[in-house]
Amino acid sequence: MRVLGLETSCDETAVAVYDGAAGLMAHRVYTQTDLHEIWGGVVPELASRDHVRRLVPMIRATLAEAGLSSSDLGGIAYTAGPGLIGALLVGAAVGRSLAYAWQLPALGVHHLEGHLLAPRLEADPPPFPYLALLVSGGHTMLVDVAGVGRYRVLGESLDDAAGEAFDKTAKLLGLPYPGGAKLARLAESGRAGVYRFPRPMLDRPGFDFSFSGLKTAALLALKAAGPEPQARADLARGFEDAIVETLAIKSSRALAATGRKVLVVAGGVGANARLRARLAEVAAAGGARTAYPRAEFCTDNAAMIALAGEARLAAGERAGLEVVARARWPLAELAAPGG
Ligand code: KG4
Ligand code: ZN
Repeated sequence: MRVLGLETSCDETAVAVYDGAAGLMAHRVYTQTDLHEIWGGVVPELASRDHVRRLVPMIRATLAEAGLSSSDLGGIAYTAGPGLIGALLVGAAVGRSLAYAWQLPALGVHHLEGHLLAPRLEADPPPFPYLALLVSGGHTMLVDVAGVGRYRVLGESLDDAAGEAFDKTAKLLGLPYPGGAKLARLAESGRAGVYRFPRPMLDRPGFDFSFSGLKTAALLALKAAGPEPQARADLARGFEDAIVETLAIKSSRALAATGRKVLVVAGGVGANARLRARLAEVAAAGGARTAYPRAEFCTDNAAMIALAGEARLAAGERAGLEVVARARWPLAELAAPGG
């Protein structure tokens, strides 16, 4: 089936066409970072309004790029949650309405299912089953992926997501939003071990995370250190090491507990070079390997939504005529396609 995918759950407006046989035919992402930067974080109402402005022209442009018209499509999939409710409603309302007008089946897709299946956009995807570490600005999760729709959440963050912790600490250091990558750059000139921050939850069993205490520890250390550049770099390094080590150790424990041989890493924090290096080490130590979707499929995009939607639409799943979006939507509620 050939599916038009729409993603508007946060601050990316994205459109894609995915074909069950031919693969990805076109995809576009517009990032609203500039719009939110001066506010130091995503402003939900501004995000929704910008989705309204951009989505329909982007659908036209994406179809034109693929040389397709509405009659070449077999269905429409849109992110229905979790995310910012106003932002989600833009994609859900446009997707649902276009499907009605074009007489196509429609389906609301779980945003995290998109991330978990994103490696399948690649030509040589890792086979099921695999372990997935999802680390973004909104989520930190370890999920055992047995197949499409067959997910077991092993653990997740009880408070801040890893990317959120990076961004908040970057803000304390005076770095512009989103500061994760900028903090990582600052950490390059920092020395390991000068600051040793807590490794949250490592002393406890299970696979949950907690990062909000780390940010408080960073704030206290920063106040004590003052503005000296080397101290700021050392602090950034200490903070990055604490997050990376926590993610790496929990991932290694989850690989051991599940016996999986592939660790798929998705989400923007997966771009962090030190994290990549440590995950490769712990995976190798457990006889496993890491796998990353390419960068544009790691961060929010509509290609992964079209792919996940295609798997379910092709199995006969359909949304009703009403427009449905959910700010919260536990992954555990999903079942295998058609189920
Ligand atoms: O998946 P993503 O693009 O989208 C959202 O969750 O919205 O993830 C973005 C997050 C931000 O928190 C950003 O600061 C973080 O990923 N990030 C990084 C790096 N690059 C992006 N964090 C640490 N190191 C990086 N190199
Ligand atoms: Zn996402």
